[in-house]
Amino acid sequence: MSIRAETLHGVRTLEINRPEKKNALTFAMYDALTDQLNAAGADRSIRAVLITGQPGVFTSGNDLQDFMEHPPSTDDSSVVRFMRALLACEKPVIAAVTGTAVGIGVTLLLHCDLVYVSEDARLALPFVALALVPEFAVSLLLPRLIGHVQAAEKLLLGEPFTGAEAVAMGIANAALPAADVLVHAGRMAERFNALPPDAVRETKRLMRASMKENIAQAIALENAAFYQRLRSPEAKEAFDAFFQKRAPDYSKF
Ligand code: COA
Repeated sequence: MSIRAETLHGVRTLEINRPEKKNALTFAMYDALTDQLNAAGADRSIRAVLITGQPGVFTSGNDLQDFMEHPPSTDDSSVVRFMRALLACEKPVIAAVTGTAVGIGVTLLLHCDLVYVSEDARLALPFVALALVPEFAVSLLLPRLIGHVQAAEKLLLGEPFTGAEAVAMGIANAALPAADVLVHAGRMAERFNALPPDAVRETKRLMRASMKENIAQAIALENAAFYQRLRSPEAKEAFDAFFQKRAPDYSKF
C-alpha cells in the first residue's frame, strides 16, 4: 500500500509510503490521496489533514515512468484531480516534510496551510531540467513569495534549497531536526480540535479568496504548456537520461 491513512485525535494522516522509489507518486497514489482528501473533507470528526512521507524523503515528485508511458494530457488526469482536491480542501492541511521534496512535492506545499520541514531536507523544483514547466500556480506564487530573481534560480536553474531556506522563503513555518518534524506537525494539527471548525474553514476560505481566480488562471496556462512539454523530444531525452542514470544532452536541440 503506497498511501497509508490513519485518523488519530481528529487528524487524518496521509503517509506517502513508497521508499524504494523515493516516494515517487504514481497515478494510483494520486487517486488514493484524492479519495482521502475528499473523504476527510466530508467527515466532521476530522479537523485537519496531515500529509507526510518517510524518514529522509517526503516525495521525489511525479513518477517519471508514469509520465513517460502515460503522459497526462487532460485536466481529468490523476495528478490534476489530486491538486484540485488539495486546493478545494476546506480543512487545514499540514505538511510534515520529512526529507527530500522534489517537483510536486514542493508544489503542493504552496497549497498547504502549515508546513514543517526537516532542517536537512533538500527541496527542488527541477521542471526546466526535465524539459517541463512549472505546475499548479508555482509560476505565479513563487515569484510573489520570494521575488523574481530568487524564483528564477529555483525555477529556471532548478537550484535546490534546504529546509531552513524554505522557511526564509516563506514556504515553510519551521525547520526542525528530522526526528521531530512529524511529531511537531502532528501537535500543530491537533490544535484544530480545540478550535471552532466553521470559523477555521471560513478563515481559510477568506485567506485564499483574493488569489483564487489568479491561481485558476495560472494553472490553466501551466497545464496547457505542461501537456505539450511532456510530449516534447526534450522531455524524452530528460526522462531517458534519468532512467539510464546519465546526464541529459540538450546540445542537439
Ligand atoms: N520517478 C520514478 N522513479 C524514481 C523517481 C521518480 N520521480 N525518483 C526516484 N526514483 C527511483 C529511481 O529510479 C531508483 O529506482 P531503481 O532503484 O529501480 O534504480 C530509486 O527510485 C532510488 O532513486 P535514486 O535516484 O537511486 O535515489 P537517490 O537517493 O540517489 O536520489 C532523488 C534521490 C530524489 C534526488 C533522485 O531519485 C531524483 O532526482 N529523482 C527524480 C526527481 C524528479 O525529477 N522528480 C520529478 C519532478 S517533476
